[in-house]
Amino acid sequence: MIQESPNHRVGGRDSATEDAAEFDEMEEVYEPAEDTHLLLRVALEEVGPDDRVLEMGCGRGVISKSLVPLARRVLATDLNPSAVRILRRAGIDAIQADLFSDIRSKFDLVLFNPPYLPTAEDDVLEGWLNFAFDGGKTGRDTINRFLEMLKDHLEPEKGRALLLISSLSDLSEVALKAEKEGLTTEVVAREKYFFEELFVLRLALR
Ligand SMILES: C[S@@+](CC[C@H](N)C(=O)[O-])C[C@H]1O[C@@H](n2cnc3c(N)ncnc32)[C@H](O)[C@@H]1O
Repeated sequence: MIQESPNHRVGGRDSATEDAAEFDEMEEVYEPAEDTHLLLRVALEEVGPDDRVLEMGCGRGVISKSLVPLARRVLATDLNPSAVRILRRAGIDAIQADLFSDIRSKFDLVLFNPPYLPTAEDDVLEGWLNFAFDGGKTGRDTINRFLEMLKDHLEPEKGRALLLISSLSDLSEVALKAEKEGLTTEVVAREKYFFEELFVLRLALR
């Protein structure tokens, strides 16, 4: 008789193989960095117990996981299917989506640490990890698409968003675009690093 043990599952992968697969999956997803921690810090100050929160581009889920006990609901999304699987394994509601495509609901708080690096064709990485960094030529491709869709997904009265921006993708251009899309903008946090300055832009309906 073959006995099932934690390290030897009948008809399935053993746990060492599963651990290795999960490790590989993690490697395909953005590793939390200064930008993650800055956005998280502001999100923790902003979130309230009645908020329905959407974290777009959740990556490994550091921000979503921290907000689950503090909000009414947290939905995490990412284009990268590995990110979605990581979040689901952690018990967080997560769906694979390109920005707001397939998302019909409105939210009280939307968070996004977007891909923001200005990227030439030669700099494009292979695989899903590229989507963590590649902001197109100006760094603003994904940010601009996000801003064009955001207002339809914010609750009219209390809806607001926190968007992480780098000086590499030009804060003033982003703010201009947001205002053109009918949003108010306020820089609520900033941090200087060696090669860039990071900002958190708070956006709300005008
Ligand atoms: C800079 S990483 C941030 C990850 C995580 N939120 C953090 O702060 O550590 C950007 C994330 O956005 C995701 N992303 C890029 N383009 C996207 C899109 N069009 N729709 C949804 N997610 C996207 C990437 O896959 C990546 O996980």
